[in-house]
Amino acid sequence: MGSSPDNKQVTFQQLPDESLKVLQLTDSHLYADPSRCLLGINTLETFDQVLAQALMETGTPDLLLATGDLVHDASDSGYKRLLGRLRLTEIPSYCLPGNHDLPGKMRQLLNQDNVHCIPSVQAKGWSLIFLDSTIPNNDGGRIDKGQLALLKVLLEAHPDKHTLICMHHHPLPVGSRWMDTMVLQNPDSFFDLVVDHPQVKAVLCGHIHQVFETVYKGVKLMGTPSTCVQFTAGEDDFAIDATPPGYRWLSLQPDGEILSGLSSLPNIPSGLDLASMGY
Ligand SMILES: [Fe+2]
Repeated sequence: MGSSPDNKQVTFQQLPDESLKVLQLTDSHLYADPSRCLLGINTLETFDQVLAQALMETGTPDLLLATGDLVHDASDSGYKRLLGRLRLTEIPSYCLPGNHDLPGKMRQLLNQDNVHCIPSVQAKGWSLIFLDSTIPNNDGGRIDKGQLALLKVLLEAHPDKHTLICMHHHPLPVGSRWMDTMVLQNPDSFFDLVVDHPQVKAVLCGHIHQVFETVYKGVKLMGTPSTCVQFTAGEDDFAIDATPPGYRWLSLQPDGEILSGLSSLPNIPSGLDLASMGY
């Protein structure tokens, strides 16, 4: 499996026990109809394959994060199918919405047993905050006044805990013109709050269907490949990348350091429509 971004050759199993071990699955784009494909790929099949590989490679992580665009058609049956998969893992799982999701429906259908749609959780000296960056009927992202107020409350409630903020949309441009039309619309209000709270170590997102890692104002920013189709980095226009579905693991250390790496399926799923101009 992948190494950490700073090239330390660390595997998940070698990580110290005291770290908070997290698995991120993102942009699963499931459908009501389990046979439906997105850009030629059966998204349920690739989700199941990525989840199985992730559990095999990481054993039992402490937490599983599903960072939006979980169900492409926001269908009840899509969410129930996802719930079934997450329940079977028995791992505490935290879901947040993407532009393809319906946040209210997610909260209604996914908040059961080990699966949660809640604003935050605290564990092993860390606070994880889950924001809703969606705008109704719009693919772009925004941390609205309510979410900013919630973020402030949660940051002030746990000043002594290292903090990871999770949201669907990428908070800053990733250098891809078409994708960056959907970037967070109000990064300044978000980062003004973040830099006022030095316990924030990183922001983790989905949405971009590609790897992205940088540091901004001292905060690590991480984006992650999808469990289905990937988009080519740095392209002005929509372009499908011939990279297999994958996931990210994170090890949140007691001293605030974050180790993280990526892993992907061994092959590109058959049927991927590389020539597609959009979806
Ligand atoms: Fe998205």
